[in-house]
Amino acid sequence: MTSAPLLRRSLEILSDRRGKSLQHQLQQLSSQGRGGDLRRVTAWTHGAIRHRRTIGAVLGSVAKRALKGKSDRVLGLLELLAFRALFSAESLDELLADLKRVGESKKVAAHVERVLGALDAAIVERVEWTPEAERRDDLLPLSRSEALRFAKPILGIEQRRPSTRLAILYSLPDPLVEAWVQAQGAEVAAELCRAANDGAPIFVRACSLKTDAGALAARLAEDEITATRVEGAPQALRLDEGRWKFRHTDAWREGTFLVQDLTAQRVGPLVAPEAGERILDLCAAPGGKATHLAELSGDKAQIVACDLKPNRLRKIEQNTERLGITSIETRRHDARYAALDFASEEPFDAILLDAPCSNTGVLRRRSEARWRYDASSQRRIHSTQAELLRAALPLVRPGGRLVYSLCSIEVDEGSDQVKELMEEHPNLVLEHEELWLPTPGGGDGGYAARLRVG
Ligand SMILES: C[S@@+](CC[C@H](N)C(=O)[O-])C[C@H]1O[C@@H](n2cnc3c(N)ncnc32)[C@H](O)[C@@H]1O
Repeated sequence: MTSAPLLRRSLEILSDRRGKSLQHQLQQLSSQGRGGDLRRVTAWTHGAIRHRRTIGAVLGSVAKRALKGKSDRVLGLLELLAFRALFSAESLDELLADLKRVGESKKVAAHVERVLGALDAAIVERVEWTPEAERRDDLLPLSRSEALRFAKPILGIEQRRPSTRLAILYSLPDPLVEAWVQAQGAEVAAELCRAANDGAPIFVRACSLKTDAGALAARLAEDEITATRVEGAPQALRLDEGRWKFRHTDAWREGTFLVQDLTAQRVGPLVAPEAGERILDLCAAPGGKATHLAELSGDKAQIVACDLKPNRLRKIEQNTERLGITSIETRRHDARYAALDFASEEPFDAILLDAPCSNTGVLRRRSEARWRYDASSQRRIHSTQAELLRAALPLVRPGGRLVYSLCSIEVDEGSDQVKELMEEHPNLVLEHEELWLPTPGGGDGGYAARLRVG
C-alpha cells in the first residue's frame, strides 16, 4: 500500500507540465527521507517523466481520447499509473487501489480506470529484449534485457523513419535523436537512446588529502558497501551492493569521499593544477571539480570558485568544509562579466569553465532534462557558452590554460564552440579534446578541451 500524501506529491510534480522547477522538485522529493515507500514513489515519478512520450504513444493507442483534452492533473495521474503498469509490472488491482487512495473525483477516477483497464488488456507478457523490440509495433523495450509484448500492434513505429522510431520507443525528442544520428551515426545514436534510460551507477571520489581509493574501499566494506576501483581513475570507486547507505557511514561523516561521476573525475587532471598556482573555476557549484582541483594540488593552489547563485555557493562551502579543504575561496560572480570583475587582479594560471549545458550526457540521471532540448534552447545555450568562453579567455595568463568542460555530448556545445573560439584567437593551441559517451555501468557522457594560451 502506498502512502496517499506521497502519491499526491508525486502527482503535483507530474502535473507541472511547464517543468521549469522540475529538477528542484524531484530533488526535494528524493531528499525527504529513506523509506522504501519514498524510494518507490521517487522512482515512479522519475520514470513517468522520463518515459512520458512512450507512455503517451501507448495510451493514445489503447484507449480512445485517453489523453486528448485532459487536464494536467489527469495526464500526470495517467502517466504515473501507466508507468507502473508498463515498466514495474504492477497489477491492475494495485493500481486501482492507489487510484482510490489519491481521492480524485468520480469522473476522473472512471476515466483513469477505463484507460488502465484497456492498457491491462493490451499487455500480454514480458519477453527477452532482442533487436526486434526496436522494430515491431507490438513490442516495447523496457530495459536492455527486457521488452513488453502487446496483444496487437500498438506503437505505430513500423512505418516511421528510424530516428523517430527510436525517439518514440526511448521517449526522447525527435530533434535530439536526429542530432545524435547526424553527429555519431545511426548505430551509436541507437546506443545513446538506450543509455538515456539506463540505471545510473554511483561513483565516488576518495579525497586524496585524507585517504586513497584502496583504503576507502576497505573502509566501506566494513559497512557492507561493495566498492570497486576503476582503471585509469585513481581516486574513483564504483559503489554497488549496499550503495544507498553511503551517507550513513563514518567514512562519509569524516569527509573522506565525495559523490562524483567517473567522467567528471576526468576533468580535474586536464587542468593539472600545481601548488602555488592561481586557478579560477567560473561555474563551480556544487564544487565537485573545484574540490578535485584542490586535492590534485595537495590543497596548495589558490582556487577561486565562483557561481551565479548564492545558495549554490553554499554547497561548495559545505563540500569544502566536509572534505577539510582550505585552498578554495568562494565568490559570487556572473561569469559573463568575469573579464570586468577580475580586470584588476593578477591573471590566472588556469581557468576551468564547466559551463551550463543541455545535460545530454547525463540523461540517465536527469529524467527531466530531455524535455528541455529543442532548437531554440540549443541556440540559447550555445550563445551563453560562447559568451562565457570569451569572458574567461582574457583572464588566463600568457602560457596558461583554459579547460572547457560540459556534461553534454552535443557537437554544437563542445567541439564547435572550441573551433569557433580558435578561429577568433589563433594564439590558442588545442592540447587535448575528448568526448565521452555514457556507458552502461560506466561514466556519464561529457566533453572537455584544454586550450593553451600562446
Ligand atoms: C555544470 S554546473 C557546474 C558543476 C560544477 N563545476 C561541479 O563540478 O560541481 C554549472 C554551474 O554554472 C552555474 N552558472 C550558470 N550560469 C552562470 C553564470 N552566468 N555565471 C556563473 N555561474 C553560472 C550554475 O549555477 C551551475 O552551478
